[in-house]
Amino acid sequence: TAEEADYKARIRSALLARDAVLVAHYYTDPVLQALAEETGGCVSDSLEMARFGKEHPASTLVVAGVRFMGETSKILSPEKQVLMPTLEATCSLDIGCPIEEFSAFCDQHPDRTVVVYANTSAAVKARADWVVTSSCALEIVGHLMDKGEKIIWAPDQHLGNYIQRETGADMLLWEGSCIVHEEFKAKALLDLKAVYPDAAILVHPESPMSVVELADVVGSTSQLIKATQTLPNPTFIVATDRGIFYKMQQGAPGKLLIEAPTAGSGATCRSCAHCPWMAMNTLPALLQSLEQGTNEILVPEHLVPQAVKPLERMLEFTR
Ligand code: 13P
Ligand code: SF4
Repeated sequence: TAEEADYKARIRSALLARDAVLVAHYYTDPVLQALAEETGGCVSDSLEMARFGKEHPASTLVVAGVRFMGETSKILSPEKQVLMPTLEATCSLDIGCPIEEFSAFCDQHPDRTVVVYANTSAAVKARADWVVTSSCALEIVGHLMDKGEKIIWAPDQHLGNYIQRETGADMLLWEGSCIVHEEFKAKALLDLKAVYPDAAILVHPESPMSVVELADVVGSTSQLIKATQTLPNPTFIVATDRGIFYKMQQGAPGKLLIEAPTAGSGATCRSCAHCPWMAMNTLPALLQSLEQGTNEILVPEHLVPQAVKPLERMLEFTR
């Protein structure tokens, strides 16, 4: 629309004026993903967002995603200004893992290596030995297991269960979950697969085990996008946030992409197949933040030296 084009033009100038680059997650509005691509920014999974922000020479990073992504960028680049379209965009995994309780849990098991998902607060990262994302969790936990380490895993129980199953590692699991992925339902997915027998089922590992068990491919957002380009199937049933369809369609234009069924498929479900916090990233909010310098991410200084260690360990391991 004309209004959209106007916002986009103003955002382009504001990016230039501020020496800023836009870093967007695959779950954000396709308009923002396209804008990031067109302006030399990046659209990616949470691991590559972190790496891109750290390595890019711009003095300001505008992170379209949820709060932990902005915090990660700030921890990795304290000298840069990090802005977000909104500071209200949190994550149920982050909310479900408060630092006081988590720290007490770790204190009870001092013999265990603490591995946390990137979807956590800066304080939780500062308490961790390793940070991982869904695209490198298996390799990192496998590596720790080979060294004979026992693990505390937080906060996503489904991803933790999946990794435990795949690696056989000794893991104590925190019981958090993602409100979007936990809504995918195995029974309805089987029914849908019967309608599309040629379809491959792609599942993000934050989904329940019953859904993961039906998957042809389990992986991070970028790994699922890649699967639509490399597998020969004409159809894909996708169990993750529907924001991902923008890049999937772009990379595999001839394929039929179908959303996996959720409990409340239909009008009633607030978080079915779309993260309500990712949805807070809008063009007007992005423009306002860029023009006025509002919604700046600040991480308490005392946390940075500790929180940066497990993040850099992750980036180094996956280089
Ligand atoms: P990815 O690291 O796979 O992009 O996942 C981030 C996330 O929040 C998934 O819900
Ligand atoms: Fe968090 Fe789930 Fe939203 Fe990802 S989709 S940001 S895990 S609530």
